Amino acid sequence: MTLSAWWRHAAIYELYVQSFADGDGDGIGDLAGVRARLPYLADLGIDAIWFSPWYPSPRSDAGYDVADYRSIDPAFGTLADADALIAEAHALGIRTIIDVVPNHCSDRHRWFQAALAAGSGSPERERFWFRPGRGPGGDLPPNDWRSIFGGPAWTRTTTPDGTPGEWYLHLFAPEQPDFNWASPQVRQEFEDILRFWFDRGVDGVRIDSAALLTKDPALPESEGPSPYTDRDDVHDIYRAWRTVADKYPDRVLIGEVWLPDAARLARYLRRDELHTVFNFPYLCCPWDAAELRAVIGSTLEFHAAASAPPTWVLSNHDVDRHVSRYGRNDTSFGLDRRDHSQPVDLDLGTRRARAAALLTMALPGAAYLYQGEELGLWEVEDIPDELRQDPIWHRTRGADPGRDGSRVPLPWSGLEPPFGFTTGEPWLPQPKEWRELTVEAQSAEAQPGSMLALYRRALRIRRAEFAAAAMTWLPAPGGVLAFDRGGVACVVNLSPAPVELPAGEILLASGPLSGDPVSGDRASGGLLPPDTSAWVRTVSR
Ligand code: GLC
Repeated sequence: MTLSAWWRHAAIYELYVQSFADGDGDGIGDLAGVRARLPYLADLGIDAIWFSPWYPSPRSDAGYDVADYRSIDPAFGTLADADALIAEAHALGIRTIIDVVPNHCSDRHRWFQAALAAGSGSPERERFWFRPGRGPGGDLPPNDWRSIFGGPAWTRTTTPDGTPGEWYLHLFAPEQPDFNWASPQVRQEFEDILRFWFDRGVDGVRIDSAALLTKDPALPESEGPSPYTDRDDVHDIYRAWRTVADKYPDRVLIGEVWLPDAARLARYLRRDELHTVFNFPYLCCPWDAAELRAVIGSTLEFHAAASAPPTWVLSNHDVDRHVSRYGRNDTSFGLDRRDHSQPVDLDLGTRRARAAALLTMALPGAAYLYQGEELGLWEVEDIPDELRQDPIWHRTRGADPGRDGSRVPLPWSGLEPPFGFTTGEPWLPQPKEWRELTVEAQSAEAQPGSMLALYRRALRIRRAEFAAAAMTWLPAPGGVLAFDRGGVACVVNLSPAPVELPAGEILLASGPLSGDPVSGDRASGGLLPPDTSAWVRTVSR
Protein backbone atom coordinates (compact mmCIF):
# COMPACT_ATOMS: atom_id res chain seq x y z
CA MET A 1 0.00 0.00 0.00
CA THR A 2 1.53 3.29 -1.05
CA LEU A 3 0.59 6.84 -0.18
CA SER A 4 -0.30 7.38 -3.82
CA ALA A 5 -2.83 4.52 -3.95
CA TRP A 6 -5.71 5.67 -6.15
CA TRP A 7 -8.40 5.44 -3.47
CA ARG A 8 -6.54 7.85 -1.20
CA HIS A 9 -7.52 10.86 -3.29
CA ALA A 10 -10.15 9.61 -5.74
CA ALA A 11 -13.38 11.35 -6.72
CA ILE A 12 -15.90 8.52 -6.48
CA TYR A 13 -19.33 8.76 -8.10
CA GLU A 14 -22.17 6.87 -6.47
CA LEU A 15 -24.21 5.48 -9.34
CA TYR A 16 -27.68 4.42 -8.25
CA VAL A 17 -28.32 1.93 -11.03
CA GLN A 18 -32.12 2.01 -11.27
CA SER A 19 -32.14 5.81 -11.56
CA PHE A 20 -29.12 6.53 -13.76
CA ALA A 21 -30.11 5.65 -17.34
CA ASP A 22 -32.45 3.08 -18.84
CA GLY A 23 -31.28 1.21 -21.93
CA ASP A 24 -34.32 -0.95 -22.63
CA GLY A 25 -37.35 1.25 -22.03
CA ASP A 26 -38.77 -0.54 -18.99
CA GLY A 27 -38.46 2.59 -16.85
CA ILE A 28 -35.70 1.12 -14.66
CA GLY A 29 -32.09 2.12 -15.15
CA ASP A 30 -29.75 -0.69 -16.22
CA LEU A 31 -26.21 -1.59 -17.20
CA ALA A 32 -26.83 -0.88 -20.90
CA GLY A 33 -27.85 2.63 -19.83
CA VAL A 34 -24.66 3.02 -17.81
CA ARG A 35 -22.47 1.76 -20.64
CA ALA A 36 -24.01 4.24 -23.02
CA ARG A 37 -23.29 7.08 -20.59
CA LEU A 38 -19.74 6.17 -19.59
CA PRO A 39 -18.34 8.96 -21.76
CA TYR A 40 -20.43 11.40 -19.70
CA LEU A 41 -18.77 10.15 -16.52
CA ALA A 42 -15.30 10.23 -18.07
CA ASP A 43 -15.93 13.80 -19.19
CA LEU A 44 -17.23 14.75 -15.75
CA GLY A 45 -13.79 13.81 -14.43
CA ILE A 46 -14.45 11.16 -11.81
CA ASP A 47 -11.97 8.42 -10.92
CA ALA A 48 -14.29 5.62 -9.87
CA ILE A 49 -17.92 4.54 -9.83
CA TRP A 50 -19.58 2.92 -6.84
CA PHE A 51 -22.59 0.94 -8.08
CA SER A 52 -25.58 0.47 -5.80
CA PRO A 53 -26.47 -3.27 -5.56
CA TRP A 54 -26.90 -4.78 -8.98
CA TYR A 55 -27.74 -8.34 -7.98
CA PRO A 56 -30.98 -10.26 -8.55
CA SER A 57 -33.39 -8.93 -5.97
CA PRO A 58 -37.14 -8.75 -5.39
CA ARG A 59 -36.35 -5.11 -4.55
CA SER A 60 -38.15 -4.89 -1.26
CA ASP A 61 -35.40 -2.46 -0.30
CA ALA A 62 -34.26 -1.23 -3.71
CA GLY A 63 -31.78 -4.07 -4.23
CA TYR A 64 -30.38 -4.09 -0.69
CA ASP A 65 -32.27 -7.38 -0.41
CA VAL A 66 -29.94 -9.61 -2.40
CA ALA A 67 -31.18 -12.96 -3.69
CA ASP A 68 -27.93 -14.03 -5.39
CA TYR A 69 -24.58 -12.34 -4.74
CA ARG A 70 -22.88 -13.76 -7.82
CA SER A 71 -25.19 -12.58 -10.55
CA ILE A 72 -26.85 -9.49 -12.06
CA ASP A 73 -30.53 -8.64 -11.79
CA PRO A 74 -32.17 -9.48 -15.14
CA ALA A 75 -33.80 -6.03 -15.04
CA PHE A 76 -30.25 -4.57 -15.12
CA GLY A 77 -28.63 -7.00 -17.57
CA THR A 78 -26.32 -9.99 -17.35
CA LEU A 79 -22.99 -10.90 -15.85
CA ALA A 80 -21.52 -10.48 -19.33
CA ASP A 81 -22.85 -6.90 -19.35
CA ALA A 82 -21.18 -6.28 -15.99
CA ASP A 83 -17.88 -7.69 -17.29
CA ALA A 84 -18.11 -5.47 -20.36
CA LEU A 85 -18.97 -2.45 -18.23
CA ILE A 86 -16.02 -3.04 -15.90
CA ALA A 87 -13.69 -3.35 -18.90
CA GLU A 88 -15.09 -0.31 -20.69
CA ALA A 89 -14.85 1.79 -17.55
CA HIS A 90 -11.24 0.72 -17.08
CA ALA A 91 -10.48 1.67 -20.66
CA LEU A 92 -11.71 5.18 -19.81
CA GLY A 93 -9.59 5.28 -16.66
CA ILE A 94 -12.56 4.72 -14.34
CA ARG A 95 -12.42 2.12 -11.55
CA THR A 96 -15.43 0.22 -10.32
CA ILE A 97 -16.63 -0.39 -6.79
CA ILE A 98 -19.53 -2.70 -6.01
CA ASP A 99 -21.88 -2.75 -3.05
CA VAL A 100 -21.71 -5.86 -0.89
CA VAL A 101 -24.56 -6.38 1.56
CA PRO A 102 -23.36 -8.75 4.29
CA ASN A 103 -25.73 -8.03 7.19
CA HIS A 104 -28.76 -9.60 5.53
CA CYS A 105 -29.96 -11.11 2.28
CA SER A 106 -33.35 -11.33 0.59
CA ASP A 107 -35.93 -13.72 1.95
CA ARG A 108 -35.75 -15.24 -1.57
CA HIS A 109 -32.08 -16.13 -1.17
CA ARG A 110 -31.68 -19.91 -1.51
CA TRP A 111 -30.18 -20.17 1.98
CA PHE A 112 -33.18 -18.51 3.59
CA GLN A 113 -35.61 -20.57 1.57
CA ALA A 114 -33.69 -23.69 2.63
CA ALA A 115 -33.82 -22.53 6.26
CA LEU A 116 -37.58 -22.08 6.13
CA ALA A 117 -38.01 -25.52 4.57
CA ALA A 118 -35.62 -27.29 6.96
CA GLY A 119 -37.39 -26.30 10.16
CA SER A 120 -36.26 -25.49 13.69
CA GLY A 121 -32.95 -26.74 14.99
CA SER A 122 -31.64 -27.44 11.46
CA PRO A 123 -28.14 -26.48 10.30
CA GLU A 124 -29.82 -24.41 7.57
CA ARG A 125 -31.36 -22.17 10.23
CA GLU A 126 -27.95 -21.69 11.88
CA ARG A 127 -26.99 -19.27 9.11
CA PHE A 128 -29.73 -16.88 10.29
CA TRP A 129 -31.30 -15.92 13.61
CA PHE A 130 -34.29 -18.17 14.20
CA ARG A 131 -35.71 -18.33 17.72
CA PRO A 132 -38.90 -19.50 19.38
CA GLY A 133 -41.24 -16.74 20.51
CA ARG A 134 -41.90 -15.80 24.10
CA GLY A 135 -45.13 -16.00 26.07
CA PRO A 136 -47.91 -18.54 25.81
CA GLY A 137 -47.85 -20.16 22.38
CA GLY A 138 -44.66 -18.25 21.50
CA ASP A 139 -46.79 -15.37 20.33
CA LEU A 140 -44.36 -12.66 21.40
CA PRO A 141 -41.12 -11.90 19.55
CA PRO A 142 -37.93 -13.27 21.14
CA ASN A 143 -36.88 -9.80 22.34
CA ASP A 144 -37.80 -6.11 22.05
CA TRP A 145 -35.51 -5.15 19.16
CA ARG A 146 -36.99 -2.73 16.67
CA SER A 147 -36.37 -2.70 12.94
CA ILE A 148 -34.37 0.28 11.69
CA PHE A 149 -37.17 0.71 9.14
CA GLY A 150 -39.89 0.75 11.81
CA GLY A 151 -41.89 -2.01 13.52
CA PRO A 152 -40.48 -5.07 15.30
CA ALA A 153 -37.18 -6.62 14.18
CA TRP A 154 -38.71 -10.12 14.27
CA THR A 155 -41.19 -11.84 11.98
CA ARG A 156 -42.88 -15.12 12.73
CA THR A 157 -42.65 -18.01 10.30
CA THR A 158 -45.43 -20.39 9.39
CA THR A 159 -44.75 -24.13 9.43
CA PRO A 160 -45.77 -26.31 6.44
CA ASP A 161 -48.94 -27.38 8.28
CA GLY A 162 -49.99 -23.75 8.58
CA THR A 163 -49.33 -23.31 12.29
CA PRO A 164 -47.16 -20.42 13.54
CA GLY A 165 -43.50 -21.37 13.89
CA GLU A 166 -40.25 -19.74 14.98
CA TRP A 167 -39.40 -16.08 14.57
CA TYR A 168 -36.46 -14.73 12.55
CA LEU A 169 -34.47 -11.54 13.02
CA HIS A 170 -34.34 -8.68 10.50
CA LEU A 171 -32.78 -5.38 11.54
CA PHE A 172 -34.30 -3.90 8.36
CA ALA A 173 -37.43 -5.08 6.48
CA PRO A 174 -38.96 -8.56 7.04
CA GLU A 175 -37.82 -9.38 3.49
CA GLN A 176 -34.20 -8.89 4.70
CA PRO A 177 -33.34 -11.69 7.16
CA ASP A 178 -30.11 -11.09 9.08
CA PHE A 179 -27.24 -13.52 8.60
CA ASN A 180 -25.74 -15.13 11.67
CA TRP A 181 -22.09 -14.14 11.40
CA ALA A 182 -21.16 -16.69 14.08
CA SER A 183 -21.70 -19.29 11.36
CA PRO A 184 -18.42 -20.31 9.65
CA GLN A 185 -20.42 -20.93 6.46
CA VAL A 186 -21.55 -17.32 6.33
CA ARG A 187 -17.97 -16.13 6.77
CA GLN A 188 -16.66 -18.49 4.11
CA GLU A 189 -19.42 -17.54 1.71
CA PHE A 190 -18.69 -13.81 1.82
CA GLU A 191 -14.96 -14.28 1.44
CA ASP A 192 -15.76 -16.31 -1.68
CA ILE A 193 -18.11 -13.57 -2.92
CA LEU A 194 -15.33 -10.99 -2.55
CA ARG A 195 -12.97 -13.20 -4.57
CA PHE A 196 -15.66 -13.76 -7.19
CA TRP A 197 -15.90 -10.02 -7.88
CA PHE A 198 -12.23 -9.17 -7.44
CA ASP A 199 -11.48 -11.90 -9.99
CA ARG A 200 -13.85 -10.15 -12.39
CA GLY A 201 -11.84 -6.95 -12.05
CA VAL A 202 -13.79 -4.80 -9.62
CA ASP A 203 -11.51 -2.43 -7.77
CA GLY A 204 -13.31 -2.11 -4.50
CA VAL A 205 -16.19 -2.96 -2.27
CA ARG A 206 -18.56 -0.70 -0.39
CA ILE A 207 -19.70 -2.63 2.68
CA ASP A 208 -23.33 -2.04 3.53
CA SER A 209 -24.33 -1.53 7.18
CA ALA A 210 -20.81 -2.52 8.12
CA ALA A 211 -21.12 -2.01 11.89
CA LEU A 212 -24.20 -4.20 12.37
CA LEU A 213 -23.06 -7.68 11.34
CA THR A 214 -22.41 -9.36 14.67
CA LYS A 215 -25.00 -9.69 17.41
CA ASP A 216 -24.82 -10.49 21.10
CA PRO A 217 -25.63 -14.23 20.93
CA ALA A 218 -27.71 -13.95 24.10
CA LEU A 219 -30.04 -11.59 22.19
CA PRO A 220 -30.63 -9.41 25.27
CA GLU A 221 -33.27 -6.69 25.44
CA SER A 222 -32.18 -3.47 23.79
CA GLU A 223 -31.69 -1.33 26.91
CA GLY A 224 -28.03 -0.54 27.64
CA PRO A 225 -25.25 -0.79 25.06
CA SER A 226 -26.51 -1.84 21.64
CA PRO A 227 -26.45 -5.62 21.30
CA TYR A 228 -25.73 -5.33 17.57
CA THR A 229 -24.09 -2.01 16.70
CA ASP A 230 -20.32 -1.79 16.52
CA ARG A 231 -19.54 -4.86 18.60
CA ASP A 232 -15.86 -5.65 19.06
CA ASP A 233 -16.16 -8.99 17.29
CA VAL A 234 -17.24 -7.37 13.99
CA HIS A 235 -13.60 -6.46 13.42
CA ASP A 236 -12.56 -10.11 13.02
CA ILE A 237 -14.68 -10.17 9.85
CA TYR A 238 -12.89 -7.19 8.33
CA ARG A 239 -9.48 -8.59 9.20
CA ALA A 240 -10.40 -11.68 7.20
CA TRP A 241 -11.73 -9.55 4.33
CA ARG A 242 -8.55 -7.48 4.29
CA THR A 243 -6.54 -10.67 3.91
CA VAL A 244 -8.67 -11.50 0.86
CA ALA A 245 -8.38 -7.99 -0.63
CA ASP A 246 -4.63 -7.86 -0.08
CA LYS A 247 -4.18 -10.84 -2.38
CA TYR A 248 -5.15 -8.49 -5.24
CA PRO A 249 -3.36 -5.30 -6.27
CA ASP A 250 -4.91 -1.93 -5.39
CA ARG A 251 -8.30 -3.10 -4.11
CA VAL A 252 -10.18 -1.00 -1.57
CA LEU A 253 -12.62 -1.86 1.23
CA ILE A 254 -14.97 0.99 2.16
CA GLY A 255 -17.21 0.77 5.21
CA GLU A 256 -20.66 2.25 5.56
CA VAL A 257 -20.28 2.89 9.26
CA TRP A 258 -22.76 5.28 10.86
CA LEU A 259 -21.13 6.01 14.23
CA PRO A 260 -20.97 9.39 15.93
CA ASP A 261 -17.85 8.52 17.94
CA ALA A 262 -14.64 9.20 16.00
CA ALA A 263 -12.58 6.88 18.19
CA ARG A 264 -14.94 3.98 17.49
CA LEU A 265 -15.00 4.81 13.78
CA ALA A 266 -11.19 4.86 13.68
CA ARG A 267 -11.10 1.24 14.83
CA TYR A 268 -12.43 0.18 11.42
CA LEU A 269 -9.39 1.83 9.84
CA ARG A 270 -6.78 -0.19 11.66
CA ARG A 271 -3.95 -1.33 9.42
CA ASP A 272 -5.37 -4.81 8.89
CA GLU A 273 -9.05 -3.81 8.45
CA LEU A 274 -10.84 -1.43 6.07
CA HIS A 275 -9.05 1.12 3.91
CA THR A 276 -11.63 3.89 4.33
CA VAL A 277 -15.03 4.68 5.84
CA PHE A 278 -17.68 7.20 4.85
CA ASN A 279 -17.62 10.50 6.71
CA PHE A 280 -21.22 10.84 7.85
CA PRO A 281 -20.50 13.45 10.54
CA TYR A 282 -19.48 15.76 7.66
CA LEU A 283 -22.67 14.96 5.74
CA CYS A 284 -24.88 15.56 8.79
CA CYS A 285 -23.13 18.79 9.80
CA PRO A 286 -25.19 21.99 9.49
CA TRP A 287 -24.11 24.78 7.16
CA ASP A 288 -22.18 26.55 9.89
CA ALA A 289 -18.51 27.53 9.78
CA ALA A 290 -17.62 26.65 13.36
CA GLU A 291 -19.36 23.28 13.22
CA LEU A 292 -17.89 22.40 9.85
CA ARG A 293 -14.44 23.38 11.00
CA ALA A 294 -14.81 21.17 14.05
CA VAL A 295 -15.95 18.18 11.99
CA ILE A 296 -13.21 18.68 9.41
CA GLY A 297 -10.63 19.03 12.20
CA SER A 298 -11.70 15.89 13.99
CA THR A 299 -11.88 13.97 10.69
CA LEU A 300 -8.33 14.97 9.79
CA GLU A 301 -7.10 14.14 13.25
CA PHE A 302 -8.45 10.64 13.58
CA HIS A 303 -7.57 9.70 10.03
CA ALA A 304 -4.01 10.94 10.48
CA ALA A 305 -3.71 8.82 13.62
CA ALA A 306 -4.96 5.82 11.64
CA SER A 307 -2.78 6.63 8.57
CA ALA A 308 -5.96 6.42 6.50
CA PRO A 309 -7.22 8.97 3.98
CA PRO A 310 -10.23 11.03 5.06
CA THR A 311 -13.35 10.89 2.92
CA TRP A 312 -15.95 13.60 2.31
CA VAL A 313 -19.54 13.09 1.30
CA LEU A 314 -22.54 15.42 1.09
CA SER A 315 -25.29 13.17 -0.29
CA ASN A 316 -26.19 9.58 -1.00
CA HIS A 317 -29.25 7.44 -1.72
CA ASP A 318 -30.25 7.34 1.98
CA VAL A 319 -30.31 11.04 2.80
CA ASP A 320 -32.12 14.18 1.69
CA ARG A 321 -30.26 15.80 -1.19
CA HIS A 322 -28.08 18.62 0.12
CA VAL A 323 -29.54 21.32 -2.16
CA SER A 324 -32.73 20.88 -0.13
CA ARG A 325 -31.03 20.44 3.24
CA TYR A 326 -29.04 23.64 2.81
CA GLY A 327 -32.17 25.54 1.78
CA ARG A 328 -33.97 24.79 5.05
CA ASN A 329 -33.91 26.59 8.36
CA ASP A 330 -32.34 23.58 10.00
CA THR A 331 -29.49 22.61 7.68
CA SER A 332 -28.34 19.62 9.73
CA PHE A 333 -29.36 16.04 8.94
CA GLY A 334 -30.08 12.88 10.90
CA LEU A 335 -31.29 9.55 9.55
CA ASP A 336 -33.84 9.42 12.36
CA ARG A 337 -35.27 12.87 11.74
CA ARG A 338 -35.96 13.33 8.05
CA ASP A 339 -38.40 16.21 7.92
CA HIS A 340 -40.08 17.26 4.73
CA SER A 341 -42.45 19.67 6.41
CA GLN A 342 -39.93 22.53 6.51
CA PRO A 343 -40.00 25.19 3.80
CA VAL A 344 -37.08 24.93 1.35
CA ASP A 345 -35.43 27.92 -0.33
CA LEU A 346 -33.99 26.21 -3.40
CA ASP A 347 -32.01 29.24 -4.57
CA LEU A 348 -30.28 29.51 -1.23
CA GLY A 349 -29.79 25.72 -1.06
CA THR A 350 -28.29 25.68 -4.54
CA ARG A 351 -25.94 28.56 -3.77
CA ARG A 352 -24.72 26.77 -0.67
CA ALA A 353 -24.47 23.43 -2.47
CA ARG A 354 -22.18 25.08 -5.04
CA ALA A 355 -20.05 26.49 -2.25
CA ALA A 356 -20.05 23.15 -0.44
CA ALA A 357 -18.91 21.37 -3.61
CA LEU A 358 -15.77 23.49 -3.75
CA LEU A 359 -15.16 22.93 -0.05
CA THR A 360 -15.60 19.17 -0.39
CA MET A 361 -13.41 18.90 -3.46
CA ALA A 362 -10.61 20.92 -1.93
CA LEU A 363 -10.32 18.83 1.23
CA PRO A 364 -7.55 16.22 1.30
CA GLY A 365 -8.60 12.61 0.78
CA ALA A 366 -11.34 10.97 -1.28
CA ALA A 367 -14.54 12.78 -2.28
CA TYR A 368 -17.84 11.00 -2.91
CA LEU A 369 -20.43 12.45 -5.27
CA TYR A 370 -23.96 11.14 -5.45
CA GLN A 371 -25.41 11.00 -8.97
CA GLY A 372 -27.44 14.08 -9.73
CA GLU A 373 -25.67 16.38 -7.30
CA GLU A 374 -23.54 17.50 -10.25
CA LEU A 375 -26.85 18.66 -11.76
CA GLY A 376 -28.02 20.40 -8.59
CA LEU A 377 -31.01 18.09 -8.19
CA TRP A 378 -33.11 18.65 -5.12
CA GLU A 379 -34.97 16.26 -2.85
CA VAL A 380 -38.34 15.53 -4.47
CA GLU A 381 -40.68 15.89 -1.53
CA ASP A 382 -44.02 15.63 -3.28
CA ILE A 383 -43.96 12.10 -4.73
CA PRO A 384 -47.55 10.83 -4.64
CA ASP A 385 -48.03 8.33 -1.81
CA GLU A 386 -49.21 5.56 -4.12
CA LEU A 387 -45.93 5.73 -6.07
CA ARG A 388 -43.61 5.63 -3.07
CA GLN A 389 -41.43 2.54 -2.86
CA ASP A 390 -39.26 2.97 0.21
CA PRO A 391 -40.02 0.44 2.98
CA ILE A 392 -39.22 3.19 5.49
CA TRP A 393 -42.23 5.18 4.30
CA HIS A 394 -44.45 2.11 4.33
CA ARG A 395 -43.29 0.70 7.67
CA THR A 396 -43.62 4.05 9.46
CA ARG A 397 -46.98 4.66 7.74
CA GLY A 398 -45.62 7.85 6.26
CA ALA A 399 -44.36 9.30 9.55
CA ASP A 400 -40.88 9.17 7.99
CA PRO A 401 -40.97 10.41 4.36
CA GLY A 402 -38.25 7.91 3.46
CA ARG A 403 -35.65 8.07 0.73
CA ASP A 404 -37.52 7.98 -2.58
CA GLY A 405 -37.06 11.73 -3.00
CA SER A 406 -33.30 11.34 -3.45
CA ARG A 407 -33.68 8.43 -5.87
CA VAL A 408 -35.69 10.02 -8.66
CA PRO A 409 -34.27 9.17 -12.13
CA LEU A 410 -31.77 11.59 -13.65
CA PRO A 411 -32.84 14.16 -16.26
CA TRP A 412 -30.61 13.85 -19.32
CA SER A 413 -32.20 15.82 -22.13
CA GLY A 414 -35.35 17.29 -23.58
CA LEU A 415 -38.01 19.52 -22.13
CA GLU A 416 -40.43 17.02 -20.62
CA PRO A 417 -40.23 14.01 -18.32
CA PRO A 418 -38.79 11.39 -18.74
CA PHE A 419 -35.99 13.72 -19.90
CA GLY A 420 -34.15 11.06 -21.89
CA PHE A 421 -33.85 8.73 -18.87
CA THR A 422 -36.03 6.11 -20.54
CA THR A 423 -38.30 5.68 -23.52
CA GLY A 424 -40.91 4.30 -21.12
CA GLU A 425 -42.33 5.45 -17.80
CA PRO A 426 -39.71 6.20 -15.12
CA TRP A 427 -40.12 4.11 -11.96
CA LEU A 428 -40.46 7.34 -9.97
CA PRO A 429 -41.85 10.54 -11.50
CA GLN A 430 -39.49 13.43 -12.24
CA PRO A 431 -40.44 17.07 -11.49
CA LYS A 432 -41.16 18.99 -14.67
CA GLU A 433 -38.96 21.84 -13.37
CA TRP A 434 -35.96 19.60 -13.98
CA ARG A 435 -36.09 20.66 -17.61
CA GLU A 436 -33.60 23.36 -16.63
CA LEU A 437 -31.35 20.85 -14.91
CA THR A 438 -30.87 18.26 -17.65
CA VAL A 439 -27.35 17.33 -18.68
CA GLU A 440 -28.17 18.75 -22.09
CA ALA A 441 -29.35 22.11 -20.74
CA GLN A 442 -26.40 22.42 -18.37
CA SER A 443 -23.86 21.51 -21.04
CA ALA A 444 -24.99 24.29 -23.35
CA GLU A 445 -22.37 26.88 -24.15
CA ALA A 446 -24.76 29.53 -22.96
CA GLN A 447 -24.64 27.98 -19.48
CA PRO A 448 -20.99 28.34 -18.38
CA GLY A 449 -22.14 28.90 -14.83
CA SER A 450 -24.27 25.76 -14.52
CA MET A 451 -23.79 23.33 -11.65
CA LEU A 452 -22.55 20.73 -14.12
CA ALA A 453 -19.99 23.15 -15.55
CA LEU A 454 -18.84 23.92 -12.00
CA TYR A 455 -18.38 20.22 -11.17
CA ARG A 456 -16.52 19.56 -14.42
CA ARG A 457 -14.09 22.39 -13.80
CA ALA A 458 -13.73 21.65 -10.12
CA LEU A 459 -12.92 17.99 -10.71
CA ARG A 460 -10.28 18.90 -13.28
CA ILE A 461 -8.63 21.48 -11.06
CA ARG A 462 -8.84 19.13 -8.09
CA ARG A 463 -6.99 16.44 -9.98
CA ALA A 464 -4.33 18.82 -11.23
CA GLU A 465 -3.76 20.81 -8.07
CA PHE A 466 -4.75 18.96 -4.96
CA ALA A 467 -3.87 15.28 -5.27
CA ALA A 468 -0.77 15.24 -3.12
CA ALA A 469 -0.84 18.67 -1.51
CA ALA A 470 -0.91 19.05 2.29
CA MET A 471 -3.65 21.11 3.92
CA THR A 472 -3.05 24.06 6.26
CA TRP A 473 -5.72 26.20 7.86
CA LEU A 474 -5.39 29.91 7.05
CA PRO A 475 -6.42 32.74 9.37
CA ALA A 476 -10.00 33.79 8.59
CA PRO A 477 -12.69 35.99 10.11
CA GLY A 478 -15.64 34.45 11.97
CA GLY A 479 -18.00 32.53 9.73
CA VAL A 480 -15.31 31.89 7.13
CA LEU A 481 -13.33 28.72 6.41
CA ALA A 482 -9.99 29.15 4.69
CA PHE A 483 -7.19 26.69 4.06
CA ASP A 484 -4.29 26.21 1.73
CA ARG A 485 -3.62 23.21 -0.51
CA GLY A 486 -0.20 23.53 -2.11
CA GLY A 487 -0.40 27.22 -2.90
CA VAL A 488 -4.13 27.30 -3.66
CA ALA A 489 -6.40 28.82 -1.02
CA CYS A 490 -9.93 27.52 -0.59
CA VAL A 491 -12.12 30.19 1.01
CA VAL A 492 -15.73 29.46 2.00
CA ASN A 493 -17.88 32.30 3.24
CA LEU A 494 -20.65 31.10 5.56
CA SER A 495 -21.02 34.53 7.18
CA PRO A 496 -23.79 36.99 6.26
CA ALA A 497 -21.33 39.61 4.89
CA PRO A 498 -18.89 39.62 1.95
CA VAL A 499 -15.24 38.91 2.81
CA GLU A 500 -12.06 39.87 1.08
CA LEU A 501 -10.26 37.19 -0.89
CA PRO A 502 -6.50 36.73 -0.66
CA ALA A 503 -4.53 38.21 -3.53
CA GLY A 504 -3.88 35.84 -6.36
CA GLU A 505 -5.39 34.19 -9.41
CA ILE A 506 -8.95 33.01 -9.02
CA LEU A 507 -9.09 29.47 -10.37
CA LEU A 508 -12.76 28.92 -9.68
CA ALA A 509 -15.60 30.49 -7.72
CA SER A 510 -18.92 28.93 -6.85
CA GLY A 511 -20.82 32.10 -7.73
CA PRO A 512 -20.35 35.67 -8.90
CA LEU A 513 -17.97 37.74 -6.82
CA SER A 514 -19.07 41.16 -5.64
CA GLY A 515 -18.28 43.75 -8.24
CA ASP A 516 -18.43 41.22 -11.05
CA PRO A 517 -22.03 40.35 -11.82
CA VAL A 518 -21.13 38.50 -15.01
CA SER A 519 -19.56 35.21 -14.07
CA GLY A 520 -18.05 33.90 -10.88
CA ASP A 521 -15.82 31.57 -12.81
CA ARG A 522 -13.96 34.23 -14.70
CA ALA A 523 -14.03 36.92 -12.08
CA SER A 524 -10.80 38.06 -10.54
CA GLY A 525 -10.11 39.75 -7.24
CA GLY A 526 -12.75 41.31 -5.12
CA LEU A 527 -15.12 40.24 -2.42
CA LEU A 528 -16.51 36.80 -1.76
CA PRO A 529 -20.26 37.09 -1.09
CA PRO A 530 -22.09 35.02 1.56
CA ASP A 531 -22.63 31.32 0.78
CA THR A 532 -19.91 31.38 -1.86
CA SER A 533 -16.51 29.68 -2.16
CA ALA A 534 -13.44 30.38 -4.25
CA TRP A 535 -10.17 28.69 -5.08
CA VAL A 536 -7.39 31.25 -5.35
CA ARG A 537 -3.83 30.52 -6.45
CA THR A 538 -1.86 32.58 -3.97
CA VAL A 539 1.60 31.34 -4.86
CA SER A 540 2.57 31.69 -8.48
CA ARG A 541 4.11 28.63 -10.11
C1 GLC B 1 -27.65 0.74 4.00
C2 GLC B 1 -28.06 1.20 2.62
C3 GLC B 1 -29.54 1.43 2.62
C4 GLC B 1 -30.22 0.13 2.95
C5 GLC B 1 -29.74 -0.44 4.26
C6 GLC B 1 -30.14 -1.87 4.42
O1 GLC B 1 -27.80 1.72 4.95
O2 GLC B 1 -27.32 2.32 2.23
O3 GLC B 1 -30.00 1.95 1.42
O4 GLC B 1 -31.61 0.32 3.02
O5 GLC B 1 -28.33 -0.43 4.35
O6 GLC B 1 -29.45 -2.66 3.50
